[in-house]
Amino acid sequence: MTEPLFTVNSPCTRPSIAPYCARVKERVSARRFEHIVRVAILTETIAQANRFSESEVRAASLAATLHDVARDMSAAELFELAPPETDLERQHPMSVHGRAGRRVVESWGVTDERVLDAVEGHVFGVSHDNRIGMAVYIADVSEPGRGVNEDIRALAMKNLFWAYQRAVDSKVHYLRSKGKAVHPDTLKVYREICGH
Ligand SMILES: [Fe+2]
Ligand SMILES: [Fe+2]
Repeated sequence: MTEPLFTVNSPCTRPSIAPYCARVKERVSARRFEHIVRVAILTETIAQANRFSESEVRAASLAATLHDVARDMSAAELFELAPPETDLERQHPMSVHGRAGRRVVESWGVTDERVLDAVEGHVFGVSHDNRIGMAVYIADVSEPGRGVNEDIRALAMKNLFWAYQRAVDSKVHYLRSKGKAVHPDTLKVYREICGH
């Protein structure tokens, strides 16, 4: 079965999201911004395929637009916004870009907890009751520009939770296969979602 075609326009064409697109664009590289737009389009497609309410679709779209706002910051900027809490974070400043992104968008006046949790949780994962966060997480790892995880993208059109489970499972297996440390928050989500 083929997955639905992308029928959604860039969320940046929505008047409520356009100003945020402009602010994000100023803070990231052109390539990163292209990734962000692809993630936002896919998030919206996933949200609609899973019959999110209109308010959930809007929140998911906004969260996807904002998710990597801190991704191109320097280590110093990241740590100023989100001081490292573990050795792993100290060694890998990029690992705090979800938490730092949350701080940035809070300072822009975003107060919707669903959006804030999804921005923060796109790095280490979100809890199973956070549909908006799951949609963003899945879109981030499976957007077409990555060239991987097409199976997760296709599954997300049919079953959000199964796709999320597969995304978390493959992230943990990937890190382990490379001999890389897994962040405790990712492990917590992995245990909750994958039951290990
Ligand atoms: Fe990210
Ligand atoms: Fe991303």
